[in-house]
Amino acid sequence: MVQILDGSACSKEILNDIKLKVAKMAKKPSLAVILVGEDPASQIYVRNKEKTAKELGFISKTFKMKENTSANELKDLILNLNLDEDTDAVLLQLPLPEHLCARDFIELINPRKDVDGFHPINTGRLMSNSNPYALSCTPKGIIRLLKKYNVEFEGKNAVVIGRSNMVGKPLAQMLLNENATVTVAHSKTRNLAQIASSADILISAAGVGGLIGKDFVKNGAIVVDVGIVRDENGKIKGDVNFEEVSQIASLITPVPGGVGPMTIAMLMENTLELSIKNAKF
Ligand code: GUN
Repeated sequence: MVQILDGSACSKEILNDIKLKVAKMAKKPSLAVILVGEDPASQIYVRNKEKTAKELGFISKTFKMKENTSANELKDLILNLNLDEDTDAVLLQLPLPEHLCARDFIELINPRKDVDGFHPINTGRLMSNSNPYALSCTPKGIIRLLKKYNVEFEGKNAVVIGRSNMVGKPLAQMLLNENATVTVAHSKTRNLAQIASSADILISAAGVGGLIGKDFVKNGAIVVDVGIVRDENGKIKGDVNFEEVSQIASLITPVPGGVGPMTIAMLMENTLELSIKNAKF
């Protein structure tokens, strides 16, 4: 029988824990979120982040900037937040409008405040398994969820579909750091079904609704779905054909209620951890 990897329940436990810790802190952790432009999905994500941060007792500041914000305006805001002793964590919501290059601004964020773990200092430290200030939230949440269900990584074949800087690449590195044997597949990969079906742990972050059917999955595999797409009725679905794949997987994440809630829990955990590390620095 397949077991569901319940990200909602796991994230609630983590958030409750954080709330208890924050209640005892004299100086509350502070998260600054920068949103440039009007991207509808980003507006929803940012609202959820702000709401969760406030529920935990964090200080939450959202900086909404107009679509035509100049590079200098955005740069000034980031540099000011870097200097601001009352800001522990800075998140620059992506994507940025086309005239702004995300990489340039990520590199301006003080790595000690880089709550997404996207700064090259943090990705480099992840690469060398040497204490990044923060780890990218979605992959960190996936590893945490799998550990919660006692999944062992050592020597397992893990296949990651997707090579984004936000999910696929950091996730592959985290799996490697857990001693899995890691394959990264992507949109140019040949024989995707064959490679995917060699996985003990299959993680799809392709963003292609229903891509992963039965023929992509080995019997008893663990399947994690990072995809979020809306179907023709506006319903959220993932990369994985859940009905089909849940018949042969041993563990599987639902969409919604799997990886999504874990991402936000990890963002809050990273904020708390940065605030503690920065207070000691
Ligand atoms: N846009 C979608 N997901 C994310 C995320 O995890 N961090 C940032 N900064 N932007 C995003």
